[in-house]
Amino acid sequence: TGPETVSPTGADTGAPQLSNGQQGEYLTTSAGLRLYDTDHSLKAGERGPTLLQDHHLREKVMHFDHERIPERVVHARGYGAHGVFVGYGTGANVCRAGFLANGVETPVFVRFSTVVGSRGSADAVRDTRGFATKFYTQEGNFDLVGNNIPVFFIQDGIKFPDIIHAAKPHPDREIPQAQSAHDTFWDFVSTHTEATHHVMWNMSDRAIPRSYRTMEGFGVHTFRLVNAEGETALAKFHWKPKLGVHSLVWEEAQMINGFDPDYHRRDLADAIESGAYPQWELGLQVFPDTPRQTFEGIDLLDPTKFVPEELAPVQPVGMLTLNRNTLNYFAETEQVAFHLGNLVPGIDVTDDPLFQARLFSYLDTQLTRLAGPNFNQIPINRPHTAVNDMFRDGFHQHAVHAGVAPYRPNTLDGGNPFETGPDARPFVEVAQPLAKVAKVRQSPVSFADHYTQPRLFWQSLSPVEKEHVVRAFTFELGKCYEQAIKERELQVLANVDTVLCQEVARGLGLPAPTVTGRPKKVTPSPALSQVGHSWPVD
Ligand code: HEM
Repeated sequence: TGPETVSPTGADTGAPQLSNGQQGEYLTTSAGLRLYDTDHSLKAGERGPTLLQDHHLREKVMHFDHERIPERVVHARGYGAHGVFVGYGTGANVCRAGFLANGVETPVFVRFSTVVGSRGSADAVRDTRGFATKFYTQEGNFDLVGNNIPVFFIQDGIKFPDIIHAAKPHPDREIPQAQSAHDTFWDFVSTHTEATHHVMWNMSDRAIPRSYRTMEGFGVHTFRLVNAEGETALAKFHWKPKLGVHSLVWEEAQMINGFDPDYHRRDLADAIESGAYPQWELGLQVFPDTPRQTFEGIDLLDPTKFVPEELAPVQPVGMLTLNRNTLNYFAETEQVAFHLGNLVPGIDVTDDPLFQARLFSYLDTQLTRLAGPNFNQIPINRPHTAVNDMFRDGFHQHAVHAGVAPYRPNTLDGGNPFETGPDARPFVEVAQPLAKVAKVRQSPVSFADHYTQPRLFWQSLSPVEKEHVVRAFTFELGKCYEQAIKERELQVLANVDTVLCQEVARGLGLPAPTVTGRPKKVTPSPALSQVGHSWPVD
């Protein structure tokens, strides 16, 4: 900390320091007082009682008592590693972000996760996987917080608490189960047909990856990119594993979860330790930034839709290599805080309603999870650039700010230390006419087709992959207690593909329904929007 009021959160190397509790030759209290014994409490005589004045006993137990912090409300089970990203320079025509420039090396931290299970759950469960990357760029941190499935369950973030409540273990018994093996999940997805596409991926082999090293990653949303000339384009981010995409088969996954619940984290850590560094190529699908924000009829603001690579090939822009394991799980993997609002110049948000809600949610949850507003000062979250944020105080403040006037302009702290400038502006101004619009709670009509893409996904599978999907639906739906839920989900499947529906119905011992609700052309109305274009329950 210097007189220039730069907080010590800046210019960190990223490598965790063994400090605060692990320096010097001798054991001490947290206040640095030498200890001669940490194995016996202070007692009145050999047989006690223990004396209240034993500060070391009280401090040691007090600290232990407070070791746990809340696990993430979703993605609680995760594993992280450090690495480096090297830009190819091929993205420069659409994006001016410095870390994409040719040969620029950027340190990164990646955290992989499952969505639904608690922190102690097994790795190889059927679930979506998180793939979150923090790029410590020279322009500040860029967080790409994606999944291994290119589409999402819901179209609007206001439904995120609902889908997660439905997917987490039942509130009455709290029995941890595979993501989908219970009634609330199938109740939700069979009444919210926008979830059908994600559910198809979840029932496919993609949801039981063989290794984190053989998983794709997707930014899911459409982002807006800006190049050096100020021209904009819309784009989707993709991670392609160098080892290819490989999955487990269900029986393997079941056995692995029994034999080695830490299978994926062990695999990643062992690979890195042995020098078999996993790699992913970062790629972009780029689309013209048109006022309608659609491409080939696909609404780019609908996160339940992808754009087939045949229509928009993925263009490689750089390579990620994971080459260093964490020193300390808690300090790094548990305390890392990703946020979609951490964007560098050249990358901007879009109006995807799921994206917009996420911008609020992560910051908010981290206030609780990491106990206060200063979590960007935790070593794993520190940018590798200077920080000068004018924020002051708060729980766990580590900076010793100099000066008296954290506002600008000021005439007291030797001029104006808080420079802004056009180059520092992180967000681009987009020329969009701000016409008079009504405030509404509804989705665009273009969000209403819930079946075309699930059908496309089904048709793209090989016969063996299709068989796995059928078996997964049969197994998971077979765990539902409510017959009506199974029947309603079969109705959803009938709208995806007749054979899929018939096979699952046969497995469940139920009659296959006929198609009743081909892609609905829904005219949004306030009444309908309140149920989010849901399947009529009665
Ligand atoms: C955590 C991905 C949608 C709220 C995460 C993580 C990932 C992720 C990868 C784990 C980050 C880590 O490793 O620390 C996604 C993707 C989404 C999505 C790809 C959709 C495209 C949402 C929505 C919300 C939400 C719509 C809320 C409105 C959260 C919260 C956490 C989280 C609260 C925990 C964050 C923390 O405790 O640090 N998400 N998510 N997510 N997500 Fe999402």
